[in-house]
Amino acid sequence: MQLNLNEHWFLGGVEIPGRLVLAPMAGVSVQAFRRQGRRFGAGLVCSEMVSVAGIQHRNERTLGYLRVASDEHPLAIQIFGSDPATMADAARMVEAAGADIVDINFGCPVRKVTKTGAGASLLDDPEHAARIVDSVARATALPVSVKMRRGTGNGSRDCLTVGPRLVEAGASSLTLHPRSAKQMYTGTADHSLTAELVSLVDVPVIASGDVTSRARAQAVLATTGAAAVMVGRAAQGNPWALREIMGNDTPPSREEVVAELLLFIRETVRELGEHRATGFLKKFYSWYLGRGRFPKPFKQELVMLATIEEVELRLLAAAPGARDVLERLEADLGPVDEILLDSLPISLYGGG
Ligand SMILES: Cc1cc2nc3c(=O)[nH]c(=O)nc-3n(C[C@H](O)[C@H](O)[C@H](O)COP(=O)(O)O)c2cc1C
Repeated sequence: MQLNLNEHWFLGGVEIPGRLVLAPMAGVSVQAFRRQGRRFGAGLVCSEMVSVAGIQHRNERTLGYLRVASDEHPLAIQIFGSDPATMADAARMVEAAGADIVDINFGCPVRKVTKTGAGASLLDDPEHAARIVDSVARATALPVSVKMRRGTGNGSRDCLTVGPRLVEAGASSLTLHPRSAKQMYTGTADHSLTAELVSLVDVPVIASGDVTSRARAQAVLATTGAAAVMVGRAAQGNPWALREIMGNDTPPSREEVVAELLLFIRETVRELGEHRATGFLKKFYSWYLGRGRFPKPFKQELVMLATIEEVELRLLAAAPGARDVLERLEADLGPVDEILLDSLPISLYGGG
């Protein structure tokens, strides 16, 4: 049976215009990535995880993660932390920043995060996790979603007890990445757990993990009953994976690849500033130009170049036709229209 990936569904009161969701990825899910994801067919996009401690202390870089452009909606902003009151303050800030959904991270397996009692470690303390969800849900009018792993230890099935508890506490949706925190990204995502979770809760469940193609998306949706599939790594430097999942499997031309990369570079420089963008972008060069699209030495050459200007010139020399494609893309996109963080009410910071 072919499921319709363009079908609308609701997360809380928010209408999501399709069953493909772009995954939150730290160090990847900048605004440029999310806007591109929307253009290529994602019905919902998500920020990378944002530290509530950073929000509380008004860390400039952290606040940068809360910039929302008008063409990103619907957009979830994901927060992580362990103190219910601080999480609630951050959720108010996320709402004021213009997000549509507050997503809570109970999945991050990285020690730097779990040792503070945040991320996946909360799966070991369901009552505290429920207090966080309850506190956040009371603080904001936005729907609250939770993204989690199957549990912390290998073979854990804790998500099946924690998930329903979090729904009781106020979660309007659950995203499950059915690997354990210990597994990190090894092995495979066991979506039989996703199917079990779907049968236990009456809110939409989003299936995350190893969805890389239309065939896989259809299979995961059909066998789990999930409301949507989430795509992460397959979309890194490869928005065409999203397009393929949504039904258009035309491979991109060299010009299209270079034009999308150039647009991504320009948008990221605007967002992060040239200094930060220069390092941040390096991994994207191999992601975009890999997959047999360009020879390896060319990718290596780009990474060695010192300035963004040199990278742009080198890319245009390799695919001169990309200039026209890029001009059309930029004209279609229009200027970025985003809420200015300076105008957010100070009281939202809870005095922090
Ligand atoms: C580089 C990277 C960064 C990630 N950062 C986050 C994050 O900030 N928040 C989160 O909930 N999940 C994060 N994830 C997990 C993804 O959202 C997703 O659940 C996981 O990669 C499995 O999906 P995939 O097989 O489609 O990549 C990250 C994954 C990767 C590869």
